[in-house]
Amino acid sequence: MSRTSPSTRPTTVLVYSTALRVLHWLTALCMFVVIPIAWYMTTMDRHDPSHGGWVNLHKSIGLTILLLTLIRVVARLSGSAPPLPERIPAFEQRLASLGHGLLYLILFAMPVSGYLTSYGGGHLVNWFWLFTLPSVVPQDKLLVHLGATIHYWLAYLSYLLIAGHVLAVLYHQLVQHIDILGRMTGRRDPL
Ligand code: HEM
Ligand code: HEM
Repeated sequence: MSRTSPSTRPTTVLVYSTALRVLHWLTALCMFVVIPIAWYMTTMDRHDPSHGGWVNLHKSIGLTILLLTLIRVVARLSGSAPPLPERIPAFEQRLASLGHGLLYLILFAMPVSGYLTSYGGGHLVNWFWLFTLPSVVPQDKLLVHLGATIHYWLAYLSYLLIAGHVLAVLYHQLVQHIDILGRMTGRRDPL
């Protein structure tokens, strides 16, 4: 059967700007590295000589995500996202906006809560062993507790949102035959 019969022909979609696409994939890559490092470092023996190095790497990548997100939000607000194809029902479009909004929240709240946990406890981050990032918060046990609690619980929300996000893309791509992925890869021609 032809892959482009009318019922299965993918809808051509508008794409995100190059800057937003690059920032999206860099951030996604960082997320897929920072989370397994977190799992590894939190399960390893804290007296292991390499523990501090893993924690510093986790924090460096985490703060890089914050920087990428700040740049991304400025880029996003100074332009506009390409409208979703009309074939996607209004309900799904609202769900996508909500999901994306929550992903942005995670991209801010995880690094900030991590920063509070670290700096509230007086542990400075040596960004990729290049330079030490200054503290902008006082040392305070309450900050450490608040930061650690937010960091811990939002981690679970991140897993749910990322899984939902990837599944939603696959659903539109494979079930509905709408080339949503092309919006983020820059592919303008339907598959
Ligand atoms: C988007 C960025 C980040 C993600 C997705 C992330 C994710 C995680 C996860 C899943 C854990 C394990 C769960 C937990 O024990 O809380 C963790 C632990 C931790 N993270 Fe992050 N993190 C990020 C950024 C940061 C940053 C920027 C810092 C510090 C500057 C940081 C500091 C920590 C610390 C100190 C722990 C260990 C807590 C413990 O030992 O119990 N994280 N992170
Ligand atoms: C394999 C992994 C991933 C794939 C295939 C993917 C794919 C996509 C696609 C196709 C879009 C465009 C959706 C649309 O136009 O409505 C998108 C948007 C978005 N993605 Fe991902 N993504 C992945 C991972 C991630 C991760 C890890 C995050 C962050 C935690 C993330 C955050 C976002 C956000 C916030 C948007 C909305 C962009 C905007 O409108 O400004 N993505 N993603």
